[in-house]
Amino acid sequence: MNRLKLKDLEVSYEGRTVLQVEQAIFERGRIYGIVGPSGAGKSTLLRVMNLLEKPTRGSMQLFGTDVELPSLTYRKGVPIQRKMAFVAQRPSMFQATVFDNVALGLRYRNLDKSTVQKRVEHALGLVELSPLARQRAQTLSGGEAQRIALARALACEPELLLLDEPTASLDPYNISIFERVIQQVNHQQHMTILMITHNLPQAKRLADACLFLHKGRLVELADTHTFFHHPASAELQDFVSGRMIC
Ligand SMILES: Nc1ncnc2c1ncn2[C@@H]1O[C@H](COP(=O)(O)OP(=O)(O)OP(=O)(O)O)[C@@H](O)[C@H]1O
Ligand SMILES: [Mg+2]
Repeated sequence: MNRLKLKDLEVSYEGRTVLQVEQAIFERGRIYGIVGPSGAGKSTLLRVMNLLEKPTRGSMQLFGTDVELPSLTYRKGVPIQRKMAFVAQRPSMFQATVFDNVALGLRYRNLDKSTVQKRVEHALGLVELSPLARQRAQTLSGGEAQRIALARALACEPELLLLDEPTASLDPYNISIFERVIQQVNHQQHMTILMITHNLPQAKRLADACLFLHKGRLVELADTHTFFHHPASAELQDFVSGRMIC
């Protein structure tokens, strides 16, 4: 993947436009924080990028491929989707062991048994939960389940990692593990990471650059220092100073 580029993206539901992005460019190997008030379109943006949802119009350039999103077929989408991984705010665990839950994405990819074993062990080690491999996933605590969801994503060795408020319901200890792992895979594997967060100090800590979405529009995309200390728009100034109401 060189750069990831979104162009003329628009998502509407029953005539209501909930997301409009003229252009956004993401450089490979960087961490991006996505912030904005509730309902701004942040999750919609990640769902569209992960090909879970089709926009009304728009194109995406990634992994060297230009994709016209509304007309993308399932068959053409699958190989693109396999280069990404997504972690939701409330991960679903399947009725199986932790090991099998982490292996899930790899089994879809038809990898051989020893590769699956190696990758799952490595991913569990990254999130510091190797001892829980044989535990039933349903019995995990919320924080453990979220780290297992991250391990499941990382086992796929994605080029692009999409995170939707992954630490929103975690305690400081689990947050610090989560953040350390994100930084580690970003440095070591040059993984590009887009992370939605309502935690502005977290965006400051982790992100190289941040996006501000408001009322479905991408208002600002800038390096993290500029974003927080010299916001260009009145809307972002209000948001970072806590004055924005909606
Ligand atoms: N399938 C859908 N049908 C109709 N409206 C939808 C659908 N999905 C999302 N929306 C609307 O699109 C808007 C943006 O939703 P989205 O989930 O992207 O917001 P968000 O920025 O992630 O908010 P939050 O911070 O609360 O998670 C909301 O007004 C939501 O109601
Ligand atoms: Mg959301």
